Amino acid sequence: MPSPSTAFASDNAAPAHPKALEAIAAANSGTLLSYGSDPITQRAADRIKAMFDSPDAEVLFAFTGTGANIIALASAVRPWHEILCTDIAHSLLDEAGGPVLVSGASLAPLPSDDGILDPAQLDRRITRRGDVHHSQPRIVTITQSTENGRVWRPDAIAEFVDRAHELDLLVHVDGSRVANAIAALGSTPAEAIGDADIVTVGGTKNGMLFGDAILVRRPEHFRGIDFVQKQIGHLASKHRYVSAQFDAMLADGTWLTTAAHANAMAARLSAGLTGLGLTLASATDANEVFVELDAPTLSAVREHFVVHVPDPHQPAARFVCSWATTDDDVDTVLAVLRRTGSDRPHR
Ligand SMILES: Cc1ncc(COP(=O)(O)O)c(C=O)c1O
Repeated sequence: MPSPSTAFASDNAAPAHPKALEAIAAANSGTLLSYGSDPITQRAADRIKAMFDSPDAEVLFAFTGTGANIIALASAVRPWHEILCTDIAHSLLDEAGGPVLVSGASLAPLPSDDGILDPAQLDRRITRRGDVHHSQPRIVTITQSTENGRVWRPDAIAEFVDRAHELDLLVHVDGSRVANAIAALGSTPAEAIGDADIVTVGGTKNGMLFGDAILVRRPEHFRGIDFVQKQIGHLASKHRYVSAQFDAMLADGTWLTTAAHANAMAARLSAGLTGLGLTLASATDANEVFVELDAPTLSAVREHFVVHVPDPHQPAARFVCSWATTDDDVDTVLAVLRRTGSDRPHR
């Protein structure tokens, strides 16, 4: 039996997009200043600022999304602060406590609807301002698109960020999949992040070899961010090879077309699954599909595909589409499920 396909394991399982590799090869000429003081990095930073309509922002680059999130969050807080997040936040569940380790601040999860937070949750949480016995909420981090594949609508994110600001909270957007959100919304990039103060702008999950950017829209609240970046080992000496990928993929719109393709594949899969009578565990807004599979069906699928079950107590299996997912990949997984369904006596 061939080993199971990794086509839906993660968008990190996809190869790097040729555009990213070509950009790295094109950057590989002559000597340039290191640590980001090179013209390619400057150009990439300018493109990111222009894309998000943030002329006064600063831009940094990190090797990973985890690194970018930690740099953004840790530079906002002191050890007595609290970082608010959702109950499914990557920074809470999947960064091995990195934001807490580096910042000394605590992470406080708030109940969410698949990663979408009601602004009222902030009001409920902020009750002990100035009380020396309690950690002080300083920043809230939300994810666009969310860990459960949902997309914040522009009006919802605008309202949320505005309420956070009224409550004197900074806002971080973990945008490791923000390109998927922008493509799904058809909005401007700025609308997809509201008035957030700092944003992780994903590259790796969207076709880059490695690299996520940090868009610091209100640098006055993130003083020392470059020291955090250096301390945790994300200030690449040969910076141009990270930034060249953003430069090239933003220049001609590839960064959005790859995301739109991944979303389209997820929509095709999602429609196929519901057509088979299966139940989605959350709406498919972007490039991730969550579907309820009983244990025998999951085992049958796993003979053919590597699929992740994010919460072992929930029956939801996750299928992630990427720039490299094909119609054929989608149709193959649907065929497996169709076969499994017809084999099963009660269906
Ligand atoms: C929502 C979200 N944020 C951040 C990350 C971190 O990215 P990396 O694996 O590059 O550290 C991931 C990766 O899965 C993610 O899903």
